[in-house]
Amino acid sequence: MTASEASIPAPADLLEIARDIAVRAGSAALEARRAGVEVAATKSTPVDIVTAVDRDTEALIRELILEARPDDGILGEEDAARVGTSGVEWIVDPIDGTVNFLYGIPAWAVSIAVVAGPPNPGEWTALAGVVVNPVTGELFEASRGGGARLAGRELAVNEEVPLSHALVGTGFAYSAERRREQAQVLTGLLPLARDIRRIGSAALDLCGLAAGRLDAFYEVGLNPWDHAAGALIAREAGAIVTGVDGGPESVEFLLAAAPGLHEELRAALRAAGAPA
Ligand code: IPD
Ligand code: CA
Repeated sequence: MTASEASIPAPADLLEIARDIAVRAGSAALEARRAGVEVAATKSTPVDIVTAVDRDTEALIRELILEARPDDGILGEEDAARVGTSGVEWIVDPIDGTVNFLYGIPAWAVSIAVVAGPPNPGEWTALAGVVVNPVTGELFEASRGGGARLAGRELAVNEEVPLSHALVGTGFAYSAERRREQAQVLTGLLPLARDIRRIGSAALDLCGLAAGRLDAFYEVGLNPWDHAAGALIAREAGAIVTGVDGGPESVEFLLAAAPGLHEELRAALRAAGAPA
């Protein structure tokens, strides 16, 4: 064990801090949503939006993290990365499912993960993750080696579902060019599966997989904050999570499924043109 590993707290302790912060941030975002919401700016494309609530929620989360853990790093969607000195990083999506948030669709979430190592999914070790849907009140959580839970109930992915019976979640990027490629992959996959869902929040998709509401999830173009907490929750519920060519998940590709489905789906996605 290195000196910096020795100073990293137990996953269960980090989970407690993350849970408290996510719940407080979720209540604040929900209250703000009730008061009304509008687009504050656009980001990568005209349909990639941010609201004042996204920014305010991330500011609150950062404040609460630094109160509890002043030496940690923070990688969040809406503000510059903060470099820490402790070896612990917080990966924060203040509102995942921002378009749902804007339209009043009750599928958006606060997503907070705590990892050891650099803020890069191929290199970090995920320690704790919390995803809160403030509208439904559902709180999904996991700690490394400690299992995944929803409202205290242990989560487990659906086992032995063949692709022909699988409900597969996916999502689409904000760039038109990437969407053209995503549509092509979907055209190849749709006839092979039970059906497809596009829920609009990758964090909730991964938690849905953990809870047996989906059998698999894949997407090209996710940022670390979209999947950091959800991927840990899915893994702790028994899912296999991979990226390009079966390597670690990244912005290039993420596929998550139960062990009995993962290989079959990976082959189908590859045949349809995904970098699986
Ligand atoms: C988006 C959601 C969506 C996924 C997009 C993400 P945002 O995050 O997770 O489901 O398909 O790729 O960018 O913009 O709502 O935080
Ligand atoms: Ca997101």
